[in-house]
Amino acid sequence: MPDCGLRIADRRSWNHKSRVIPHLADLAAERADFARVLGAMRQLQAAPFDALRSLDWLVALIREVGLVPIPEAGATYAGEEDFINGTQQGLIQLPLEFARWLLLLGEHRPASYLEIGCFNGATASIAAAYLRRFVPAARVVTCDVFPAFIFHGEANALAPIEYAVGRTSFDFRGQPFEAVFIDGDHSFEWAWADYVNVGRAARVCALHDVNNAPYGGMHLGGVCGVWDRIKAEEGGEFVEIFEHPSAEIMGIGVRLNG
Ligand SMILES: C[S@@+](CC[C@H](N)C(=O)[O-])C[C@H]1O[C@@H](n2cnc3c(N)ncnc32)[C@H](O)[C@@H]1O
Repeated sequence: MPDCGLRIADRRSWNHKSRVIPHLADLAAERADFARVLGAMRQLQAAPFDALRSLDWLVALIREVGLVPIPEAGATYAGEEDFINGTQQGLIQLPLEFARWLLLLGEHRPASYLEIGCFNGATASIAAAYLRRFVPAARVVTCDVFPAFIFHGEANALAPIEYAVGRTSFDFRGQPFEAVFIDGDHSFEWAWADYVNVGRAARVCALHDVNNAPYGGMHLGGVCGVWDRIKAEEGGEFVEIFEHPSAEIMGIGVRLNG
């Protein structure tokens, strides 16, 4: 199934102490790949605003960071195969889609940003560095139930990112965030809970994988069902960032609320 995340079995292997960092050589490879995330953050911090507003420049930057080799990566990242990394570092995104999401953030300039489900932290790091060019004091927070953002210290030194491990959207209920990126558990139940807990009140709320056909086949349509329900019942303006060249895979649904 082409999806944007790790399978249960993959997560279990990470959970096992001896498998977290199997070898120092593996850690060095992970660090080398994450170094490109840090490099991209530095580029975002130094770039002129015409580059920051350029779709082509942002796509090139994301490709430079690279993509996580998820199961069925070839089909998922069709056309982007040259940019698939060898480690678990990088983004689980279509470069064109995430670049368009960044452009939208630059346009709406939220003063606070919450990502649900950051995995290795690459998306949160890139978003933090980008957003802070437009809103220098923006608060950026990310959470995950599993501690995979192993280079958080390095990214945080470049652009402050609050990292809440073992936390879900339930831990942020009542805290206002102007922008939210929901990319945790893609079941209907969780994606809806994330939306109600933190997304509904946001000015800009994105849900990842709303055009992902396999998720649509889940109970109640998974996160795709949530997106349909939001469009039908929640009001606001909707933007669909669907850039897969040949299939219903990934896709970012954005609700603009006021
Ligand atoms: C698809 S990955 C996120 C990828 C990352 N956002 C990116 O685009 O590269 C999904 C992540 O969500 C986490 N997760 C699963 N259920 C969650 C939940 N209920 N709340 C927060 N995080 C969750 C998983 O541990 C996993 O790291």
